[in-house]
Amino acid sequence: GKIIFVEHNSTEHVAKLDVGSTLMQIAVTNAVPGIDGDCGGECACGTCHIVVDGQWFNRTGEIADVEEQMLSMTPERTDTSRLGCQVKVTEEMDGMIVYLPEFQM
Ligand code: FES
Repeated sequence: GKIIFVEHNSTEHVAKLDVGSTLMQIAVTNAVPGIDGDCGGECACGTCHIVVDGQWFNRTGEIADVEEQMLSMTPERTDTSRLGCQVKVTEEMDGMIVYLPEFQM
């Protein structure tokens, strides 16, 4: 399985679908630029903002209150924005496309 990260300049990074990890961990492990994960996944920094492809968004699960709070402070938030550290990867996400914002906080 795989997850495809697409940078703002269209550069694609194909990463292994690592079930049980978070999208932030996968991005960091694969050295995908634009996802820093400064707080280590505590939902406290907002440096793991990602934009999920619209067709895949409903597979990323619920947004908890803490994540909603961080996202509300993210200027580049879109309708399909998530914090990568709050999205646990499942088999259902095989082939998912994830976009990186132009600027990361
Ligand atoms: Fe800090 Fe996601 S890694 S909010």
